[in-house]
Amino acid sequence: MKVKTIGVLTSGGDAPGMNAAVRAVVRAALSKGLQVKGIIRGYNGLIDDKVVDLDIRSVADIIHRGGTMLYTARSPRFREEEGLQTAMETCRRHGIDGIVCIGGDGTFRGARDLSLHGIPCVGVPGTIDNDIASTEYSIGFDTAVNTCMELVDRLRDTAQSHDRCTVVEVMGRGAGYLALHSGVACGATAIVLPEIKLDVQRDVIEKIQNAQRTGKQHFIVVVAEGVGGVDKLAEQIQTITGIDTRATVLGHVQRGGTPSVRDRVTASRMGYEAVQLLSQGIGNRVVAEKDGKIVDYDIYDALNMEKPFDEKLYKIANAINN
Ligand code: F6P
Repeated sequence: MKVKTIGVLTSGGDAPGMNAAVRAVVRAALSKGLQVKGIIRGYNGLIDDKVVDLDIRSVADIIHRGGTMLYTARSPRFREEEGLQTAMETCRRHGIDGIVCIGGDGTFRGARDLSLHGIPCVGVPGTIDNDIASTEYSIGFDTAVNTCMELVDRLRDTAQSHDRCTVVEVMGRGAGYLALHSGVACGATAIVLPEIKLDVQRDVIEKIQNAQRTGKQHFIVVVAEGVGGVDKLAEQIQTITGIDTRATVLGHVQRGGTPSVRDRVTASRMGYEAVQLLSQGIGNRVVAEKDGKIVDYDIYDALNMEKPFDEKLYKIANAINN
């Protein structure tokens, strides 16, 4: 199929580096002589006909910005047949022959549905959670985990000054990648993850008490959002150990900020590859990182993959964070 016009959208939670991916898609497509349309607010933009022309300057000065210039949304309407049909009509009206869909698994499911209905789509992984099974790395994770690290370092300053324990919740929905990596990077005494069934006594209290016996006087406990309950955990720690304890939920501050080198470069590579596929009329694919290389998979296969938990890193944390 001769492709003339491609669309690009961002969907789901925004992630730092999404703008760099949009920029790469636009510039790579224009360099191939294609036209590019920006779809505003994810799949909602297709339903509501919010489509804009993008030229080479439309994506100037965005590589360093967090968020997404195309806006984003989670779109329950798109999961209904009516929404999907309206989206198809919008594509036809604008002559969109293919779409690059930047986001997480939910975004990929939308890309699969559109592909099955005749609009070839290529998914690009973008989520701070890094929980997409088909790729070792998702755009946004590096920036977010560095933000977590900086914020937990600040909590450490005050915990150290007061001989306190600080319990901090980091994002990640059902996955513990942000918690595990920031916990290792910050030397957290305990890291609580949804992948490991929590035993408060074994996984938190004993670790704090063991460290206390060797002279440690302040403690960091990193808790993944998927486990939650930081206020209750802080209370338990204070009651059992007698250590003054505070709880903090980092929240959406983790989603913003200027993207790191890792995120800008990965976004540029992935956005470029997505266009190479679409320009040949190849859809129903996702791009991914495997062993440091950019590869692509069938979306159906990608959605059925499982991401292994990094047991080795958790073991390392237990061995050295004490
Ligand atoms: O998927 C990214 C993420 O930030 C998760 O870590 C979190 O659970 C979720 O999005 C929050 O979503 P919202 O911004 O819609 O509240």
